[in-house]
Amino acid sequence: MAEKILVTGGAGYIGSHTSVVLQEAGYEVLIIDNLSNARADVPHRIAGISGIQPAFIKADLCNEKDLDYCFDRHPDIAGVIHFAAYKSVGESSAFPLKYYHNNLAGTINLLKAMQQANCRNLVFSSSCTVYGQPDQLPVSEEAPLKEAFSPYGNTKRICEEIIRDQAGASSLQAIALRYFNPIGAHHSAQIGELPVGIPNNLVPYLTQTAAGKRESLKVFGRDYNTHDGTGIRDYIHVVDLAEAHLEAIRRLLEQKNKEAFEVFNLGTGTGYSVLDIINTFEKVSGVRVRHEFTDRRAGDIESVWADPSKANRYLGWKARLGLEEMLRSAWAWEQLLGS
Ligand code: UD1
Repeated sequence: MAEKILVTGGAGYIGSHTSVVLQEAGYEVLIIDNLSNARADVPHRIAGISGIQPAFIKADLCNEKDLDYCFDRHPDIAGVIHFAAYKSVGESSAFPLKYYHNNLAGTINLLKAMQQANCRNLVFSSSCTVYGQPDQLPVSEEAPLKEAFSPYGNTKRICEEIIRDQAGASSLQAIALRYFNPIGAHHSAQIGELPVGIPNNLVPYLTQTAAGKRESLKVFGRDYNTHDGTGIRDYIHVVDLAEAHLEAIRRLLEQKNKEAFEVFNLGTGTGYSVLDIINTFEKVSGVRVRHEFTDRRAGDIESVWADPSKANRYLGWKARLGLEEMLRSAWAWEQLLGS
């Protein structure tokens, strides 16, 4: 019988892609999502891609009763992949309590419910933001964690610590996946990133500018110490990222993990600048992107890219899709958005 995986935030950007990959690998998927930042038709779209309707419960992790209901109805959950969280860096600085409450209480409630249900396998959605501006590039998992630039980043770090402590004190087995910059969309263009309002992140802003929804893309800073003066990041295709989650939950279910709490970087290992992104996008789409240079954005770091060799080695996973494919899929999604 297929093992059942609970995906919190499974209607969101990375959660929806991971749900598809899990179903395609033969797992049964149960999504819980409060739909605070996702469209209600996402489970249906997932079914449109995989041919299998995922079970869906509209539930809020901050409400313990919702979680009890979920684990009571599904006592056979073999593992959990935990995405559900607020993720806007800027908003987190304006409303820190909203972020600390939602992201920490949600994670604590989930851990309590898992313990009660005797469910011991957890994959956690973390971020490379925990490294700040690393002293050495590429950044490996050994790099020291730095003070977070935002309450959002701090919630990722604190949640990792909570999960690590719980894994040390109980039968919980957990993997935290530290994402670099996820972009792109499923090749079906049925699921993708759905930014609410004005996008904060580069690629959704860029595709909206190319589509004529925004006047001009602001390039934040041209005086960084990089090959063209603009900031460098390790962009990774969301489908590659989803596949790493499959390998991580498999590692736990097959009890192949070496420690009760493990962390892995998920990136390609290659950094691209903002201008590299614009140029590559123009090449694959044939559309020019109006852009202008402005001051650096507060809190931005200069350059970061991953050393993904630990994930390559222990998860047997490697990012396969290149920048052109990432941007082509992001553009296809933007053009179909709303249809
Ligand atoms: C941020 C967060 C990261 C989070 C990610 C996705 C930090 C340090 N990073 O990454 O934790 O996982 O968002 O939500 O908190 N840029 C422009 N113009 C724009 C937008 C961005 O030039 O309109 C530039 C930025 O300066 C940066 C690059 O594009 O150099 C990528 O920015 P963005 O997509 O916002 O991601 P990060 O800030 O790297």
